[in-house]
Amino acid sequence: MNRKIIVLDTTLRDGEQVPGAKLNMQQKVEIAQQLKRLHVDIIEAGFPASSAGDFQAVQEIARSVGDSVTITALARAVKNDIDAVYESIKLAQNPLIHIVLGTSNIHVEKKFNRSKEAVMQMGVDAVKYAKTLLPNVQYSTEDASRSDFEYLWKTIEAVVKAGATMINVPDTVGFAVPEQFGDLIRRLNERLKNLNENVVLSVHCHNDLGLATANTLSAIKNGAEKIECTINGLGERAGNTSLEEVVMALKVRESFYNSYTDIQTKELLRTSRLVSHLTGLDVQVNKAITGENAFAHSSGIHQDGLLKDKQVYEIMSPEDVGAESMELILTARSGRHAFKNAVEKMGFATTDAADFEQLFGKFLALADAKKEVYDHDVFYLVTSHRTLNE
Ligand code: KIV
Ligand code: ZN
Repeated sequence: MNRKIIVLDTTLRDGEQVPGAKLNMQQKVEIAQQLKRLHVDIIEAGFPASSAGDFQAVQEIARSVGDSVTITALARAVKNDIDAVYESIKLAQNPLIHIVLGTSNIHVEKKFNRSKEAVMQMGVDAVKYAKTLLPNVQYSTEDASRSDFEYLWKTIEAVVKAGATMINVPDTVGFAVPEQFGDLIRRLNERLKNLNENVVLSVHCHNDLGLATANTLSAIKNGAEKIECTINGLGERAGNTSLEEVVMALKVRESFYNSYTDIQTKELLRTSRLVSHLTGLDVQVNKAITGENAFAHSSGIHQDGLLKDKQVYEIMSPEDVGAESMELILTARSGRHAFKNAVEKMGFATTDAADFEQLFGKFLALADAKKEVYDHDVFYLVTSHRTLNE
């Protein structure tokens, strides 16, 4: 039976850490409302201890959209941060405290300058304190992919015994590669399910090597039950796992992953455009799923194939992600089939073969000069050609 994958969107927390992506409270609420329409399971609304503005935004999101979506926010493993999270999310129906603390040697030695045991104890104390406030607590082992496996496991075991209900395994600096990350998740999952089968295993990947989507999918294949991602892959440095990519990979390849999400994929494009508009950060044109060219075809061979049957060159339909339909860009490489289709779509006849050949010659000359030929160009081409020949 297929497994449901829980989707946590962190556009408003990790995504908002991008330089230049400052959002005001109203904009954050607008994005949260759209994330609810998209049917994400959990919204990470911010890092409330970081500023009064962030606190208020998280509170407003919890109040206004927290009726059906789980709301979480980030805390370091310290009482003040946990209190700030609790106070800001407590109005949501299903609030979740998210605690983060590093497990790699470099974090333990350089960031905290404490012994491994002392750092682990900080995590345990933080979870125990959070559990006095709320039943649901997620613990993130920051820099997990660069951590010593046995210490990572000991930490997970200790925080689960202290009451953590979700364990999130971050590839904080995008160091992981798919086979290795999948293997890490498989080993952790085996031990975790023996310890407490109700604890959810989650992953959080960064894209420094362009592998965030691949690592997330590999983790799913190896037992991860929850994924963390952002719209348009926004996030620190090269960004986080792009929600739209993983969701569509699971939809298109459902029988390979035996997994699905509850995401309303027809809302993906609208969400992507909203986030891009409000953050002022453009989506690259060839970005998978939501880029401007994601469903645009310009080569003649492809256009001809698509006009025969869309499946020849399309693995998903544009309508599935909320785009209008595939787009055939007319260029000098477009063949007769694509040009004929464009002319006929405008209501002009193409039955006179000699006349059509002349028209196609004019189209190629125009396409050479202009590079891309739009509907209005085709219209002008046909009407002026027909007037001349009358
Ligand atoms: O990248 C990271 O490790 C994080 C944690 C807070 C989950 O963003
Ligand atoms: Zn992150």
